[in-house]
Amino acid sequence: MSQSHTYDVLIVGSGAAGLTLGLSLPDHLQAAIISKESLDAGSTRWAQGGVAAVLDEDDSVDAHVADTLVAGAGLCHEPSVRFTVEHSNAAIQWLIDIGVPFTQDAPDHFHLTREGGHSARRIIHAADATGHAISETLLQRAKEKSNLHMMQNYIAIDLITREKLGLDGHGCIGGYFLNNDTGDVDVITARAVVLATGGASKVYLYTSNPDGASGDGIAMAWRAGCRVANMEFNQFHPTCLYHPQAGSFLISEAVRGEGGRLLLPDGTRFMHNFDERGELAPRDIVARAIDHEMKRLGADCLFLDISHKPADFIKEHFPTIYERCLELGIDITREPIPVVPAAHYTCGGVVTDTFGRTDIGHLYAVGETACTGLHGANRLASNSLLECLVFARSAAQHIIQTIDPDEPIPQAPCWDASQVDDSDEDVVIAHNWDELRRFMWDYVGIVRTSKRLLRARHRVNLLRQEIQEFYSNYRVSHDLLELRNLVDVADVIIRSALLRKESRGLHFSRDYPQALPRAFDTVLTPKYLKELGEL
Ligand code: FAD
Ligand code: SIN
Repeated sequence: MSQSHTYDVLIVGSGAAGLTLGLSLPDHLQAAIISKESLDAGSTRWAQGGVAAVLDEDDSVDAHVADTLVAGAGLCHEPSVRFTVEHSNAAIQWLIDIGVPFTQDAPDHFHLTREGGHSARRIIHAADATGHAISETLLQRAKEKSNLHMMQNYIAIDLITREKLGLDGHGCIGGYFLNNDTGDVDVITARAVVLATGGASKVYLYTSNPDGASGDGIAMAWRAGCRVANMEFNQFHPTCLYHPQAGSFLISEAVRGEGGRLLLPDGTRFMHNFDERGELAPRDIVARAIDHEMKRLGADCLFLDISHKPADFIKEHFPTIYERCLELGIDITREPIPVVPAAHYTCGGVVTDTFGRTDIGHLYAVGETACTGLHGANRLASNSLLECLVFARSAAQHIIQTIDPDEPIPQAPCWDASQVDDSDEDVVIAHNWDELRRFMWDYVGIVRTSKRLLRARHRVNLLRQEIQEFYSNYRVSHDLLELRNLVDVADVIIRSALLRKESRGLHFSRDYPQALPRAFDTVLTPKYLKELGEL
């Protein structure tokens, strides 16, 4: 039996962004925090390196801002960068206050590590499992709060807006959710709705991300009428473990920060041939260099070596990586680690301001789902968790200041499943899922050409039609919903990549190898594309 629920605030996503927002709300506001799988299912839990912040007395806000702008290749919005960095200290202090066990190197002193593109040691971390420590602590605190209603195995299908219902005014009033335990579609309405659904790196065949990173929030906001920006800038992490049984296991950039060296199969270093910062160049440069060398040599992988450091140091700083590699027969204290680049982070997303506000009233987007202007054409390492914290806290303040608890929330109609059947050919979902992710990897990957992008556009158009038809005719399922979102995200990535006639940051085109003199955001507006008959 389908159900209706009403809250003051509906938060879709229980990663760092969603939980921080929930925990920043006062007790009198009732909020639902929803995850499509278990509550710790997003990317947050897997974060390794840490959180970038200005914590060392020799460091400065200006230096962190400057490093972020350099990595962002001229496309960051400086006010957004400054806003983030200026609030970094308070955000970290809040995490410390609620009990995140960051690694200390002396009593009352936190160890700071270093990562690519940072001119100082400024990454606070919990060994090499920072995300796990943050996720566990946030979840524990959230479960202690009686105004936060945690709901798992609910997957958001689409947003409900006043416009869609033909009501006066405009704005978001909630969403439809498939309850994976019952198979019913429930309606959840609220005075403020927050998308904190993470990124979309699952659109690529090889990724460091967990399975659910299918860009659901970006796709839902796009379908509801929000602009999305800079979707061509998908970040590829240079060093994911290359091993048939490894799944998507990351080898943290902190390994390079602590002296790890990238090696060709014959054991020679090569990064200084590409950038004077060597292994600590920003990620776009390192990933492209690895990709170049792998293709040049026809190698399946390259190597990352930290074995010249004392074994105790390695085990203390990288216990998770050490253990995981050892399970697979690689002793990183003695031998190099086989690595390849993989899709890691969605720099673009739903266009928001510093309060997380989107183009639709009462609809916010925070965390990896949002495009705040912080990352520009390439995210600086460990700025993502920081963005989750800072913007979620800011969005919560805006919600607190503007929400009217006496305002009636309109009723939304129940989900209409009267016209659909049970699917008898789920093979279509599995096939399209594989096909989409493979051509995105082959044609819209680290190095692009216009010809390959046009091929990808042709294929994505066919897939979109097929998936839309399937969606209209059959009962929704978790896999179908993710596929529908992935194809919409692939579509906006390809459109954005085709619009950028230059190479900048993470977008490298062989046909346009130079950067244009001025940097422009790629902003897609669904309304205009609909008017042009393209959607
Ligand atoms: P997530 O943590 O991904 O959470 C998304 C949530 O939304 C989940 O609860 C999910 O179930 C839910 N959800 C999604 N779709 C739906 C739907 N349709 N309906 C209902 N719920 C939905 N960044 C750093 O700054 N430092 C690091 O060291 C670092 N290391 C990383 C290592 C790895 C392996 C990975 C994958 C990422 C790393 N990142 C790091 C990036 C960072 O972890 C993520 O960008 C960040 O955690 C995203 O947080 P989030 O709250 O936006 O989303
Ligand atoms: C890592 O530990 O290398 C990931 C850091 C990040 O994605 O910011």
